[in-house]
Amino acid sequence: MRQLRLQALIQVARHHGVELDVNEFRGDASQSLPSAASMSEWAQNAGLWSRAIRTGWRNLLRMSSDEPVVLLFKDGSAGLMVGVNAEQRVLLMRDPGAPPEARPVAVDELRLAQVWEGEAILVRANRGHVAADAPFSLRWLSELVLQEHRSLRDIGIASVTISFLTIFPPLLVMTMVNKVLQFHSTSTLILLATVMAVVVVYEAILGHARRLIIAVVGARLDARLNLHVFNRLLRLPLDYFERHPAGETMFRIAQVYKVRQFLTGRLLTTFLDLMTLCVLLPFLFYLSPILASIVLGCAFMILLIILAYLRPMREMYSRVTTAETWKSATLGETIVGIKTVKALALEPQRRSLWDERIAEVGKWQLAFSKLSNWPQTLVTPIERIMVIGTVMLGAYIAMNDPSGYMVGGLFAFLMLSGRAAQPLVGLARLIEEYEEIGAAIGEAASVLNRPTESNARSAGLRPKFAGEISFQDVTFTYSNTTVPALDRVTFAMPAGTTLGVVGRSGSGKSTITRLLQGINRDYKGFVKIDGVDLRDVDLRHLRQSLGVVLQENFLFRGSIRDNIIAGRPGLTLSDAVYAARLAGAEEFIERMPNGFDTYIEEGSPNLSGGQRQRLAIARALITDPRILILDEATSALDPESEAVVTANLERIATGRSMIIVSHRLSSLVDCDHILVLDQGRIVDYGRHDVLVERCAIYRQLWNQQNRHITAPKPSAAPRLVTGAPDQ
Ligand SMILES: Nc1ncnc2c1ncn2[C@@H]1O[C@H](COP(=O)(O)OP(=O)(O)OP(=O)(O)O)[C@@H](O)[C@H]1O
Ligand SMILES: [Mg+2]
Repeated sequence: MRQLRLQALIQVARHHGVELDVNEFRGDASQSLPSAASMSEWAQNAGLWSRAIRTGWRNLLRMSSDEPVVLLFKDGSAGLMVGVNAEQRVLLMRDPGAPPEARPVAVDELRLAQVWEGEAILVRANRGHVAADAPFSLRWLSELVLQEHRSLRDIGIASVTISFLTIFPPLLVMTMVNKVLQFHSTSTLILLATVMAVVVVYEAILGHARRLIIAVVGARLDARLNLHVFNRLLRLPLDYFERHPAGETMFRIAQVYKVRQFLTGRLLTTFLDLMTLCVLLPFLFYLSPILASIVLGCAFMILLIILAYLRPMREMYSRVTTAETWKSATLGETIVGIKTVKALALEPQRRSLWDERIAEVGKWQLAFSKLSNWPQTLVTPIERIMVIGTVMLGAYIAMNDPSGYMVGGLFAFLMLSGRAAQPLVGLARLIEEYEEIGAAIGEAASVLNRPTESNARSAGLRPKFAGEISFQDVTFTYSNTTVPALDRVTFAMPAGTTLGVVGRSGSGKSTITRLLQGINRDYKGFVKIDGVDLRDVDLRHLRQSLGVVLQENFLFRGSIRDNIIAGRPGLTLSDAVYAARLAGAEEFIERMPNGFDTYIEEGSPNLSGGQRQRLAIARALITDPRILILDEATSALDPESEAVVTANLERIATGRSMIIVSHRLSSLVDCDHILVLDQGRIVDYGRHDVLVERCAIYRQLWNQQNRHITAPKPSAAPRLVTGAPDQ
């Protein structure tokens, strides 16, 4: 039943070109059947528009017939409504479990009522949805902002209204000067005061509402951006993170928010101010064409000055950002590597590096400030001249105005001219700031617009693996190197066997496991699991089917249980206990103060290396993967912990294929096959006893590690004790 419901939604999603992943479905643990709400959420998370609704027969009849709808039935199953025949009053239904070529059946109201109580899930392609894969650019961001068009419209209306309201006070002052003062009319004064009070209150309320809407829009945009940016980041290939320090990435990502703030901050206010201008300018020209022309002319000059400085400022600003990026990278690197810094007492070196970085940032920032001081310096006198000039000229005009009307008009003009110049200067500033924003977008895009890890994300195969692995003539070179890390590697391991991989450092052992995990995909030749080319397999599915334990494993902040389960759906404490037992971790976990609920800090300082490693193995085992990869997983362990893990390996290995990379040959003795690598090539392949006889490199490694057993005793040491020569 559960399957049928999920299947129904998968088919509808497929109709809209989206492939849903069953593993991503998060049902309520309390319910055995997927609820409408959780299913709809599942579709939404995959980027579809979806709603869980309660509806009736009549509404179904009215629905457009080209979009299938999922109907959830009383008995826990589901059906797909694929068409409507309103004339004959029947629905065309499909059984999600039926083969695709089966014809839909017509169902009338009575028949449907027997199985259906009104629960349905609507799914549509998300048209308003900004494409998740679209490159990050100003255009993309603007589209995101424009999605809020309703709120923007409200903001616009409020702004225009406020603009009209700002005309009121000067108008009143004008009337007051011209009428009240000249004719001593108290009643007019009272009337004006009342009007004024109403206008003030109204303006305050509108201003409040406008700021509120802007805040809401900003918060909503931030939430969307956060989601998008993080998703993008997670989908970047591991390669990227290996080449770029965390600090640099974090700095670049932070630029996104700067851009967002620009869009809803400066850009929006300038736009709104310009609207105000459209209302104000005609009024100013009505009051005095000459004065209005002066204001306009001055504003235009300011605009020109700022434009003239744009280019040099842009160049300077890019230097500032480069310096900032370096600074941020140094900070991140120091924090991440703080253990090493402290252990080697590298603080002075780090500090002097930091000194250099901030000096560099300081230098360019100062240069930038000096440069941007100039337009400011040139603009200020023009602004002053504009204000004082209009006063003077206005006074002159008013003096020579026989009607006496210009006195009040001058007051009104002065009150408003400031407001009119402001948007024009704001416009120039906007262009100036746009440069900064362009740089910020470039920074963020340099991270976010990298090709993401897999293109076959939703279209790849999702076979259930048995665990047969084969490499056929695989050659792979890391992108920034010339020597191949793997050179024509060919081997095959049957399902359910263990393969040991040995070789000197840098011989390509980890590279084999990386190719298998799909971390690097641009190799020549074929890597196959169960005969399926890895390049055709859905990447997420591939990694979910593998268990991987590395030499260094990161444990997240949270309880031991959380760390073992790692948020994977449908797993419980008993699964965690089972996995811990298999990994040999149960005995130490139970000795901890809170057992499985013991809290681990980030970086797990309260665990020993061996304990951490066993937790990592438990974490890899909990999904019961068919294929387990241990890359030097026991190398960092003390002999005792290693013995515990190795003793468990045989149990762990039952029913799965296991690849064990290890320097210590003693842990590989029992492997079904051992692969000996040297400089990316396979030197030999066979069982331990065969290799010791046949393979020189293997024998050499084996002898080195077992000197205490095979080599003759050193002759110099006992002399000190006995004082007599040996023999
Ligand atoms: N991310 C990378 N970028 C560039 N070159 C790499 C990268 N990782 C490994 N290499 C190079 O590829 C070669 C094989 O590396 P690999 O990590 O597979 O060796 P390994 O056998 O696992 O060594 P070790 O025993 O030290 O872990 C090395 O020469 C190494 O310099
Ligand atoms: Mg390695």
